[in-house]
Amino acid sequence: MRAPTMRHLGDVIPLPASVRPDASADFRIPADVTVGAAPAAAAIADELAGLLRRATGFPVPRAGEGGSVRLLLDDEADGGKSPESYRLDIAADGVTLRAPTAQGLFAGVQTVRQLLPVEAAAEVVLPGGRIEDEPRFPYRGTMLDLARHFYGPADVRSFIDTIAQFKINHLHLHLTDDQGWRLEIEGWPRLTEVSGGAGTGIDGAGPGFLTAREYTDLVAYAESRFITIVPEIDMPGHVNAAQLAYPELTCDGVPVQQRTDPEVGYSSLCAGKEETYAFVEDVIRVVAALTPGPYLHIGGDEALNTTAEDYRTFLTRVLPLAGKYGKRAIGWHEMAAVDLPPTAIPQYWRIEPADDGVARAAAAGHQVIMSPADRSYLDMKYDDTSPLGLDWAGVVGVERSYDWDPADRLPGVGEESLLGVEAPLWSETLRSLADVEFMAFPRLLAIAEIGWTPRAGRDWQSFRRRLAEFGPRLAAQGVNFHRSPEIDWR
Ligand code: ACM
Repeated sequence: MRAPTMRHLGDVIPLPASVRPDASADFRIPADVTVGAAPAAAAIADELAGLLRRATGFPVPRAGEGGSVRLLLDDEADGGKSPESYRLDIAADGVTLRAPTAQGLFAGVQTVRQLLPVEAAAEVVLPGGRIEDEPRFPYRGTMLDLARHFYGPADVRSFIDTIAQFKINHLHLHLTDDQGWRLEIEGWPRLTEVSGGAGTGIDGAGPGFLTAREYTDLVAYAESRFITIVPEIDMPGHVNAAQLAYPELTCDGVPVQQRTDPEVGYSSLCAGKEETYAFVEDVIRVVAALTPGPYLHIGGDEALNTTAEDYRTFLTRVLPLAGKYGKRAIGWHEMAAVDLPPTAIPQYWRIEPADDGVARAAAAGHQVIMSPADRSYLDMKYDDTSPLGLDWAGVVGVERSYDWDPADRLPGVGEESLLGVEAPLWSETLRSLADVEFMAFPRLLAIAEIGWTPRAGRDWQSFRRRLAEFGPRLAAQGVNFHRSPEIDWR
């Protein structure tokens, strides 16, 4: 008989690549269940043991490399497989999760987590069968805007915990903008003293900054959840906060006024001044040294007060600095107007396709991250009644977030050109983690599935049905999500 709380093997977001249920192989979790793993996977096994303990109330001790629930690291080199791939076998006598890397085991544990009931139960049964899974794209991201409103380390950690469940593996932090500078930079103390302090952010209501130590700790925490932090220092536009702190960063050296309004496109670094490049190189050097991940985002968007010639001069000098300090540059799609270093990655946020150089960059071999504003921007209102958010890219309901494909967005940028997909969340109208969560969830689950699940396996009705089950799950975690009327929430 089916236990009342038992889940179906395919009730997972993102939907796995292959799901083969076997009703004769359900695993009735026994009171003496144990979790075993090789030493290299000990931390992940501890996490799984904790999840099983919470679901069953059983002691769930760790059991060396044996155990009724086993995590195995395959050392057979399996050439073509993604490092995030895994295979999950649930049988009547136990569970075997195998993967080529710890990252793959972590992904598999997130799947197992979703197959456990929300509420602890006397009898917990995992549905039998096999899941074989790997992501469609290696980059599945979201972004927090710490500049318009600062969120401290505890909030960012909480957000990381929530997004990791859905196999989001990159968190882009927009650290600088006109209204605030949110990362301590050694040698440039006024950036955070002046532009990270009281009165900064939209309406002066989002003060704060990360010390270098806090940032380093946050990066390490994200890494423990297999999430890569992508730091963004936006330039040559969006720099009023930097110029407020250091007036020599303007062309005329005249101090600028502090800005806490949401306008964009008025500030610019001075492409013709050597001080500009000394500053930029220092910042890139420091941020690169604090960041173990491969990427450094240099912004490049909405430089409306920079001439095309200055923009080209500036980026042609600045883009190679990412490489000089060991990073691949990501930039908003505007940067594709210049000749890019071979590893640079445009991030496409446009609504309507335009001849902006992104397709040309893809043809030259550049990878692209897809973030079209009318589908993936989490700060757009859900509908006309949304209390938070903006609507310049339209209103974006859950179906609209889900029912599009990154390989269809831009002629010339198909599947093979895509590094992946990212859902940015700008915080002009957001004041708290609860606000962030309300805008991100459930839409980020749609983007997570677009980034992970094979295109042919995606279906709105299937997603809508599976998402309904996540209402109680998110609620039990204390996540503030939008109960969109598009979903028949449980
Ligand atoms: C952007 O939305 N300005 C990248």
